[in-house]
Amino acid sequence: MDKLQKLIEEHVGYLIVLTLLVISVAGLVEILPLAFQKSTTQAVAGVKPFTAVQLAGRDIYIREGCHVCHTQMVRPFRAETERYGHYSVAGESVYDHPFLWGSKRTGPDLARVGGRYSDEWHRVHLNNPRDVVPESNMPAFPWLSKDLVDADIMPAKMEALRRVGVPYTDKDIAEAKAQVEGKSELDVLIIYLQGLGLALKNVR
Ligand code: HEC
Repeated sequence: MDKLQKLIEEHVGYLIVLTLLVISVAGLVEILPLAFQKSTTQAVAGVKPFTAVQLAGRDIYIREGCHVCHTQMVRPFRAETERYGHYSVAGESVYDHPFLWGSKRTGPDLARVGGRYSDEWHRVHLNNPRDVVPESNMPAFPWLSKDLVDADIMPAKMEALRRVGVPYTDKDIAEAKAQVEGKSELDVLIIYLQGLGLALKNVR
């Protein structure tokens, strides 16, 4: 044993390789089980896959970079839960591909913004934030109310999400186009926002 220890300690190459091996194995032992635990892989009660309309809204959210200024992740600290509600849990984002937790908060967290304001408030706010929050430095998104959502692309999007595990039925996919058709980008974005975080909304 002493000889082995001497060998390793005197040859920095062995030492590096063995250290990396130990860290890798220990890392896998900690990380891998998370991929199979119910608490991280199953939706919490009340969380459903996004409807076609919500999904279209979510894509507008991503396209416009809302996630660059807004997190969707309430951290488990008192100051956060007092302001936003129950802290975020993994089971709330199982259908989020990619997830939009974010890391930078120029504006407030939006994980539980659903139901906080009326649809009309969002309509005015997104069109020009200064109309409802005079000191706001959020950019205006006036084109959203003028542009219609591209409905043709919805079935392919849902098909792709089904492939990564979102349980859409053939019926959901077949009806997707009709549900989104004719809606403005603003309509679907607001419907997406109004659905955010409802599952744990009243849990304290
Ligand atoms: C450059 C940063 C920035 C971007 C990009 C941005 N916001 Fe904001 N947002 C803010 C700031 C700052 C506030 C706080 C002032 C206000 O309410 O307007 C805010 C407030 C909000 C609120 C009110 C939240 C609350 O709890 O009061 C909502 C909803 C919102 N933003 C949605 C969006 C959406 C949707 C997008 C993308 C279309 C977006 N924001 C893009 C900075 C941003």
